[in-house]
Amino acid sequence: MWPMWSNEIIKGAGLGLRTAFIEEIYDYNLKPNWFEVAPENWIKKGGYLKKLFEKIRQDFPFICHGLSLSIGSPDPINFSFLKELKDFLDYYEIKLYSEHLSFSYFKGSNTYDLLPLPFTKEVADNIIEKLKIVQDFLNRQIAIENASIYLILEKEMEEYEFIQYIIENANCKLLLDINNVYVNSVNHGFNPYDFIDKINPEWVMYYHIAGHDRIEENLIIDTHGQNVIDEVYDLLRYTLETIGNKPVLLERDNNIPPYKELLKEYKKVKDIVENEKKFV
Ligand SMILES: [Fe+2]
Repeated sequence: MWPMWSNEIIKGAGLGLRTAFIEEIYDYNLKPNWFEVAPENWIKKGGYLKKLFEKIRQDFPFICHGLSLSIGSPDPINFSFLKELKDFLDYYEIKLYSEHLSFSYFKGSNTYDLLPLPFTKEVADNIIEKLKIVQDFLNRQIAIENASIYLILEKEMEEYEFIQYIIENANCKLLLDINNVYVNSVNHGFNPYDFIDKINPEWVMYYHIAGHDRIEENLIIDTHGQNVIDEVYDLLRYTLETIGNKPVLLERDNNIPPYKELLKEYKKVKDIVENEKKFV
């Protein structure tokens, strides 16, 4: 049996590590508690950036958030990628790894997108079988992230039931993206607080929070390119109170502001997490 998730590895608020500001991390007194990194962005990096990455790894806890596992794909698992991933996680002693509950590959072609899944038992069973193999291969309990969904395909069950069925049968964890819950609630017209109420605290490894672009009144695109809006911060506070105080990661992948500005947003997340009394 592989090592299970432990909440001792990361605490409080973390930040997604990006090359846009990697050189500035030591320039300010305020430093993130931990960083989340996309292994695909670093596996093949060399030279100066790799040296800096290794220095930061020595000084901070890291967790990994993958981009190309494509766990929901009908395609077979890509074991050569999985081997590169395991070597990376082992070399940098990164115990936690999460991925998206979506798919990118179809019949061998990479769509370079995180596509929505039909909420069916057949799709869930395929994911469960693959998750068991991936967790065995990586020798880690991993987390799957609830996606931002623009198109609901076939639906035999609700999203939370789909998540529950997978988590309970694959013995994995949930990366609960609060912004994705909010985005889906606007785009598909449901109450995001009801969704949070259906999440079992025992499922959750950590949370994501991010900004988005509102295109129309009932259409939001999950760009990670803006500051987090107040409604999403309110949903985060509610989640911390009801599900529990677990680590929170601020994602900023596009339209990245100067690092000093980004640190202000990070500080806001950090203050919210640290002011919650109820630690789980
Ligand atoms: Fe996310």
